[in-house]
Amino acid sequence: MFNLFNKQSKSLGIPQKKESLESLWRLTKILMENLEFEDVIYKVVNSLLTELGYLKSGYRIVVLSLIDEKAGGLRRIALSETAEARRATSVSTIPFEKIVIPFSATNNLGIKVLLTGRPEVTSYWPDILSPPLSKEAALTNQKSAGIQTSMVYPVFSRGKPIGSLIFSMVKEYKEVTEEEKDLLSGFTDLIGLAVENSMLFTTLRRTTAQLEVANQKLKELDRLKDDFVSIASHELRTPMTAIRSYVWMALNRSDVPLSQKVEKYLARILISTERLINLVNDMLNVSRIESGRIEINPEPVDLIKLVKDIVDEVYYSKSAEQTIQFVILEKPTPQVFADPEKLRQVLLNLVGNSLKFTPPGGKIIFDFFSDGQTVETSVKDSGVGISKEDLSRLFQKFGRLDNSYVAISSSGGTGLGLYISKALIDLMHGKIWASSEGLDKGATFTFSLPVANRDILEHQEEFKITAKGQAKGLEPVAI
Ligand SMILES: Nc1ncnc2c1ncn2[C@@H]1O[C@H](COP(=O)(O)OP(=O)(O)O)[C@@H](O)[C@H]1O
Ligand SMILES: [Mg+2]
Repeated sequence: MFNLFNKQSKSLGIPQKKESLESLWRLTKILMENLEFEDVIYKVVNSLLTELGYLKSGYRIVVLSLIDEKAGGLRRIALSETAEARRATSVSTIPFEKIVIPFSATNNLGIKVLLTGRPEVTSYWPDILSPPLSKEAALTNQKSAGIQTSMVYPVFSRGKPIGSLIFSMVKEYKEVTEEEKDLLSGFTDLIGLAVENSMLFTTLRRTTAQLEVANQKLKELDRLKDDFVSIASHELRTPMTAIRSYVWMALNRSDVPLSQKVEKYLARILISTERLINLVNDMLNVSRIESGRIEINPEPVDLIKLVKDIVDEVYYSKSAEQTIQFVILEKPTPQVFADPEKLRQVLLNLVGNSLKFTPPGGKIIFDFFSDGQTVETSVKDSGVGISKEDLSRLFQKFGRLDNSYVAISSSGGTGLGLYISKALIDLMHGKIWASSEGLDKGATFTFSLPVANRDILEHQEEFKITAKGQAKGLEPVAI
């Protein structure tokens, strides 16, 4: 029927003539200058008329419509800024931006071109405006604008129809040259990609802006949470420490004899209070680590001496019921460069864990290995062990394993100890890992730390700065 729209030029989408190619190149440049959706659609409907002098060739109105799934049709998006366009909109019964051609209106050329993928032409505006306009209303619009011919092109992007373009002119269809058709066809192909890219770009930009706001809010909430944990923990720690001291005195320094029952109750209060204090301390530690408010003060540390001190401390504090053997495999070991307080905290947690998960009569062995660059310290117990699947979860926050092994001692735990230990070792440029032959085969926890060699000592300041991270110089973390 519209034999002049030859299929070949449409499917190739490239103008055949040199002048058309040049024009298309200019349009491409204009369209690609800016990716903002509003700018792109404005240029789509105006650039052809103004930049390429198409007004001289009788072209007066370009209309871009895009598929609007929500509205169930093809929605008018942009319209050229010409006197003819203004005249048509001023008499229209429906405002331009409210015009949606329903998908069901398959005789409307806007929808038809989407279905067939081929352009159409008409000199009768009800073909492009009804529905939603009545035929009379559509004709009134056409008359006020003084348009004789309208060509409708489907707009595709990545092989999918996304909308249509209507080129309206004040001349008859037979006056349209081959060259013009070539250019319109090439232009339409270009529009598909430009419009879709700009939609993606604008959505991306808006989403990025929204994400930025959300991210700021989250950061603020995170800070508030840190502050809350920090303040709440501090406030809890003081009264709990007082309770612990008084219960301890009531138990051990009472001047009246205690009945067995009262003694049992007091002992339980003491254990529970200790658990609470541990929990609060762990929470404080986590909050400080996560907000970067932790200070690392590294110095050369003799690991064997530190381990001996810790074993003495643990051994004597539990001396009465102590049935677990500690073995320290002493050997010449270089000093490491680490924060002794933090290291103590890590070791106390590892020893505490081994004690918790090793039945009476068991053994805890400390071993050391150095390759000259680092020192590996391992704490190996003969306790309940850890299954393969659980090994990777150990160092996560609240990483208490929910399998059936019951801690040998009743003091329970928070599941934060290893998380804190790993964070501290990381801050001291070390590594920590666990291994176990399986359940009931014991567990080994090993951490490695850099040797305090001349190189490190000469660059101490650098090391400290990096170790401190974003430290804000708060008081050292209590154990
Ligand atoms: N030596 C060990 N033997 C067996 N399981 C262990 C050992 N050390 C740690 N675990 C497991 O790892 C979990 C996490 O340890 P940790 O982070 O120190 O928390 P907590 O001691 O408060 O439970 C423990 O609850 C336990 O399930
Ligand atoms: Mg622990």
